[in-house]
Amino acid sequence: MNMSKTSWKLSEAPEGADHIQLAKRYELFINGSWTAPKAGTYFKTINPATEETLAEVAQADKDDVDAAFKAAQAAQPKWQALSGAERGKYIYRIARMLQERSRAFAVVESMNGGKPIRESRDIDIPLAAAHFFYHAGWADKLEYAFPMRKPQPIGVVAQIIPWNFPLLMAAWKIAPALACGNTVVLKPAETTPLTALLLAEVIEAAQLPKGVVNIITGDGQTGALMTAHAIPQKLAFTGSTEVGRKIQEAAIKRNKRVTLELGGKAANIIFDDAPIEAAVEGIINGIYFNQGHVCCAGSRLFVQESVYDKVLLKLKRRMDSLYLGDPLDKNTDIGAINSKSQLETIDRYLKIGQEEGAEMYQTDCELPAKGFWCKPTLFTHVAQSNRIAQEEIFGPVLAIQTFRTIEEVIGQANNTPYGLSAGVWTDKGSKIFQLTSALKAGVVWANTYNKFDPTSPFGGYKESGFGREGGVHGLEAYLRFE
Ligand code: NAI
Ligand code: MG
Repeated sequence: MNMSKTSWKLSEAPEGADHIQLAKRYELFINGSWTAPKAGTYFKTINPATEETLAEVAQADKDDVDAAFKAAQAAQPKWQALSGAERGKYIYRIARMLQERSRAFAVVESMNGGKPIRESRDIDIPLAAAHFFYHAGWADKLEYAFPMRKPQPIGVVAQIIPWNFPLLMAAWKIAPALACGNTVVLKPAETTPLTALLLAEVIEAAQLPKGVVNIITGDGQTGALMTAHAIPQKLAFTGSTEVGRKIQEAAIKRNKRVTLELGGKAANIIFDDAPIEAAVEGIINGIYFNQGHVCCAGSRLFVQESVYDKVLLKLKRRMDSLYLGDPLDKNTDIGAINSKSQLETIDRYLKIGQEEGAEMYQTDCELPAKGFWCKPTLFTHVAQSNRIAQEEIFGPVLAIQTFRTIEEVIGQANNTPYGLSAGVWTDKGSKIFQLTSALKAGVVWANTYNKFDPTSPFGGYKESGFGREGGVHGLEAYLRFE
């Protein structure tokens, strides 16, 4: 299919986009070959901004899942037997090829997932490449990372990822697993399979030994078949807390290792001594980045009472300036909601918030006629017990509360079943130190938000999951020690 025909005016397309070719149909990448699903079932993957079909992808069933794990199992001893430097070369090659093809990856990521091209171009794809570069460097240094502990690969790993950062999550999962000598079977989410399949093409072109990386597509049923399979010794998952629980049960049943990166309801806390303009930018980025489809989104805003009016006014003004529309337009701030069902979830929460007595504000931008969209939204007069203050909405919806003292806001911020991330805005270093130790969150940003780096471990407390990804801590999740 020639993508230039589908969804943008060529004059507005990102440079190079007219060269992008997607196949009409994608098979499963098993044992280094593109393999048709045994049952012959395919499903359509669409562009959520236009509802147009982009391609058909295979629905992996029991036999396909089995074939993928057998391939990974057969490849594992050989991959482990390579020297770390040798494994590192393959991973560097993947990183470089991602960079070379970054434009195509960015365009496809935005077309399949709905996120603004500026984000996929400047954040998702470069970070995915950075993750491979970083872990390539670890492959021959594991003994230095864990001195006297004899790090060994776990074996075969099953990896299931979500739709909000499709390529980046694939990189977060695959890069450390390979560096540590494991082989993998990875499944992207059903709404965003395309960049994982393009990554399979890169892996094929990088000539990785057959079976080291297997990429299979399908929905939650395929995911459940993966977690129930006897071969993988470790399950790695990013997604909903609900599915995370099921995966943990599957891991316990078969005594498998498991890491879970689940939801969040992060507090973004603004003190009266904060640089307000910068804080407002941080609030905007915290909640409206990637339409709020972000596990660490700053979805609860706590404003110190004395600056509440000022912050709210500036925030609304800045919200009004956000441009919602075509994800492939480089000026777009807010793209499409990833799927119809996610839009329904968000809309349900907008209703719940109003029924709970909170006051809703939305910008009056125009919504495109086709596709799935949600206006940037905030709620004021939110009570701590409101569902919109407690539950993950995963959309561009901010719940605002106020506080007077630091003790009060610590209590409010921690009063949630989640504990993934938080943000603090203040001029005082002492407050930052006090909060970073008092907040039960895996990541706390100070005077910034949503900053990611492969050297820095990421992960949560409580119902946000366990295990860390990135940094030395992330390697540990893919190793056992003798
Ligand atoms: P989900 O957890 O159902 O999907 C994530 C991945 O898990 C997908 O690849 C899916 O195919 C797979 N999966 C689904 N059921 C499975 C099962 N029984 N066994 C194994 N794998 C399974 O997430 P969903 O339904 O798309 O979104 C629901 C909510 O989850 C969102 O509204 C959001 O609140 C949260 N979420 C959180 C994410 C995060 O980054 N922490 C990412 C995606 C969703
Ligand atoms: Mg689900």
